[in-house]
Amino acid sequence: MIRDEAVIFLCPSCGEGRLEESRFSCGGCGKQYPAVSGIPLLFREPREVLEAWAERLANFVRESDESTKQLLKDAVEPGLLDRSRRRLVDTAEGLEARKEQVLSLFRRAGIEPSRAAHDSELESILSYVALVHRDFGWDEEDEARASLEAVLSVVGEQFRLGRTLVLGAGTGRLAWDLGNALSSSDPILLFDINPLPFLIGEALRRGETLELAEIPGHPRRSNQAVMKRTLRAANPPPPGLRYIFADALSPPLERGSFDTIVAPWFLDQVPSDLATMLPKIRDLLRPGGSFLHFGPFVYHPKRTRPAHRYTADEFVQLVLREGFSVEKATYEPMRYLGSPASTQSRVEYVLTLHAKSVETPSAPLALESDPRWLDERELPIPRFTVSPSFELPHTAPRRVSELVNGTRCLSEIASVLVEEGHLADDGTALTATRACLKVLWKMRVREPSD
Ligand SMILES: C[S@@+](CC[C@H](N)C(=O)[O-])C[C@H]1O[C@@H](n2cnc3c(N)ncnc32)[C@H](O)[C@@H]1O
Repeated sequence: MIRDEAVIFLCPSCGEGRLEESRFSCGGCGKQYPAVSGIPLLFREPREVLEAWAERLANFVRESDESTKQLLKDAVEPGLLDRSRRRLVDTAEGLEARKEQVLSLFRRAGIEPSRAAHDSELESILSYVALVHRDFGWDEEDEARASLEAVLSVVGEQFRLGRTLVLGAGTGRLAWDLGNALSSSDPILLFDINPLPFLIGEALRRGETLELAEIPGHPRRSNQAVMKRTLRAANPPPPGLRYIFADALSPPLERGSFDTIVAPWFLDQVPSDLATMLPKIRDLLRPGGSFLHFGPFVYHPKRTRPAHRYTADEFVQLVLREGFSVEKATYEPMRYLGSPASTQSRVEYVLTLHAKSVETPSAPLALESDPRWLDERELPIPRFTVSPSFELPHTAPRRVSELVNGTRCLSEIASVLVEEGHLADDGTALTATRACLKVLWKMRVREPSD
């Protein structure tokens, strides 16, 4: 059985059988799962995934060859500056070099470009290549360092990761750094569906170095059109780090398996409605386990309807509503993918949030029912003090706690929040206020009479 200590993998196909470790086969339906370059492919139809990767590789080769040809044609245009001509030729050579480097990486994994008809709608095989250079290729480490510091700032340096799952891990760099910073020796499972960053991450995890040319779309100087990059890990991997190809939207894992789940730059971009992921995350966590969200709220306009393009404060509300307590959160601008060789870089407001799945109450607490003033909206709410260790994540909950004065009731507090613009006047204010009050009440300093 694939058992990373207490982590149990379920068959992605039948959803019930547990996976046998040695052959990646389901103990229930008997289905076998292949591995590429040592990374298991835990997809319902792994063969189809491999075929799609082969098609994407073929698209990449075709597009790369077309661009090379065009650049070489452009390079003979009369009247060009020498350095412009040089830039075009360098780029063409860089494209050739990068093509061979990518093909060699996939060849080692047993994947060749497909010869079948190509579906040009498929995502580019290079779509996350910028992450690879940022995480393992640039000399400057400032983005990786800032990411690690942001996450450590909400969990604290004494935090114990325990069994950890990372959703949409990219290259795995953040998990790598977190595991080392927090001296984790527990399993850290990385889930992703994109091959290039994972094949590279796994090779580096085994101690290899790789070459992969960086070709910034908008180079800072004419001699930076192609940057030779050697990909290497600055530190050895934490011992439990493990790359696994699997769909993070429906992780094939047994409930309650994890102490920590990390979603770095994932929830806004990937599911069409991130709210649907929160119950899944809570289910996979043990009671009291930690959910670490790290990322901005930038949605794919085609994938996510406006109703589901939650802002950071809406996201915090959703997290609270899902039965998490928010331990600490920051919301700060961060630089993103600013290559030292490029004129371009983005700055995004990033929410770094540490939430805990609220423990199933122990026996005496289980008897505690919600106070009546939560249901009966006209009853006055008694004053109470919120535990100082509970950092109020943003303005609405903070305002709710200020408004509890011993005489106001739920509907009055909701009205004030609407008047002051903390909540929308769309019929949801009462529910949102009740959710806030419920969490604040749970987080109160208990009186001896409680
Ligand atoms: C914006 S990137 C962030 C990557 C990484 N977490 C980071 O911070 O650098 C989103 C990641 O989600 C991955 N992804 C997309 N859909 C996925 C899915 N269904 N399951 C797992 N990973 C997915 C992409 O391949 C990509 O690596």
